[in-house]
Amino acid sequence: MARRKKIYEGKAKILYEGPEPGTIVQYFKDDATAFNAEKKDVIDGKGVLNNRLSEFFMTGLTQIGVPNHFIRRLNMREQLVRNCEIVPLEVIVRNYSAGSMSKRLGIAEGTQLPRPIVEYCYKDDALGDPLVTEEHIAAFGWASQQDMDDILSLALRVNDFMSGVMLAVGIRLVDFKIEIGRVYEGDFQRLIVADEISPDSCRLWDIETGQKLDKDVFRRDLGSLTDAYSEVARRLGVLPKSNVTKPTLIN
Ligand code: TMP
Repeated sequence: MARRKKIYEGKAKILYEGPEPGTIVQYFKDDATAFNAEKKDVIDGKGVLNNRLSEFFMTGLTQIGVPNHFIRRLNMREQLVRNCEIVPLEVIVRNYSAGSMSKRLGIAEGTQLPRPIVEYCYKDDALGDPLVTEEHIAAFGWASQQDMDDILSLALRVNDFMSGVMLAVGIRLVDFKIEIGRVYEGDFQRLIVADEISPDSCRLWDIETGQKLDKDVFRRDLGSLTDAYSEVARRLGVLPKSNVTKPTLIN
């Protein structure tokens, strides 16, 4: 096979030029990082699980009319997605306090919030993705007011969808992060959900036991990350039972 042009390599994924104009191949690595890559490891099978899980969530979003970048899965580690210009924001939606919000505001982890709270971080690894307000976003031109209205609406629709899907399998969606892409269609531009939605970018707690089934297992050394992600995949019916503990490289 001809070598593909690598466009970008991030901490958990590699992007290659896609086979058709306007497409990108998104390759999911097994690399796990936390605390802005201060903590690193290679977790056998993580990329396979996240490729499948992101496919599952993005396909579900398409079914309910939430525009996103996913086109189709290509193989165990790769999916074809729409090329888009990533808005330089991490859009976080929180239903329960945890992580940086709990630290910042002194709220116990697991406290239910009065309503979903949306936060924005400026995507800049060198700065550690600092929290910003809509004032910064507008003043520095990272997104327009119209974009912000669309981003808020996308984020809340993803939250409704993801909360429901998770609740149905006994998992609480504590919070998550999405990224937004800009696509151009003739004279118009549209915002779509991009990047990935996976246990790398969500907090997922078992409703009964509170067990963490997301990347906090790695961040906080709580056990096997693939066991946690496999459990999410198993409950959602994403991976056949025989594939649960160690995904094989069969398409
Ligand atoms: P935080 O509580 O650390 O700010 O994280 C909020 C959510 O965002 C949580 O679901 C994990 C996710 N997240 C990412 O996807 N990437 C990141 O770099 C960070 C810090 C958090």
